[in-house]
Amino acid sequence: MHEDMEKVLITEEEIARRVRELGAEISRDYAGKELLVVGILKGAVIFMADLVRCLNIPVRLDFMAVSSYGTSSESSGVVRILKDLEQNIEGLDVLIVEDIVDTGLTLNYLRENLLTRGPASLKICTLLDKPSRRKVNVQVDYNGFVIPDEFVVGYGLDYDGRYRHLRDILILKREVYSGKEQREN
Ligand code: PRP
Ligand code: MN
Ligand code: MG
Repeated sequence: MHEDMEKVLITEEEIARRVRELGAEISRDYAGKELLVVGILKGAVIFMADLVRCLNIPVRLDFMAVSSYGTSSESSGVVRILKDLEQNIEGLDVLIVEDIVDTGLTLNYLRENLLTRGPASLKICTLLDKPSRRKVNVQVDYNGFVIPDEFVVGYGLDYDGRYRHLRDILILKREVYSGKEQREN
């Protein structure tokens, strides 16, 4: 295990099994349709890459990047689009893919924003749900794992841009981030 990590929270094998289950469920729900999968940069990229390869329906991919304003430790809830979708989603079946729902501010904003564009349907898939930190209610349609209030990295999730490439989901040692930025991810 990486020296900055306290312990493994979810192993690579557990993630792979759950991602296959989610892929099967989503494929059943959208049978006969084409899905536009929208990945939210950067945290969602690893999960998205694995998830879409577990879908057996026609799929297209697009990406958005957003940033939330605020101090380093508290998000203000004001979200800014850094990179928008490349296509018009009016009339399309859209699935937002995220790595984690934490306060819910990012996904709440994305849902409201994309709904104004008139998709045929809009659902949300997250790998991780950390309900203890929620500030706004977000309806998540597909979730991989509910996790405790620990600072997790790996499988796309970062601390200060690092550790996204690690294959497991790991709890970061407190000494690595204490005294620095407290905000998750
Ligand atoms: C993280 C994470 C989610 C969001 C969740 O992204 O990947 O997108 O925060 O937090 P919330 O529920 O409190 O809004 P971040 O802004 O760190 O960008 P990144 O994906 O590039 O790491
Ligand atoms: Mn993110
Ligand atoms: Mg982050």
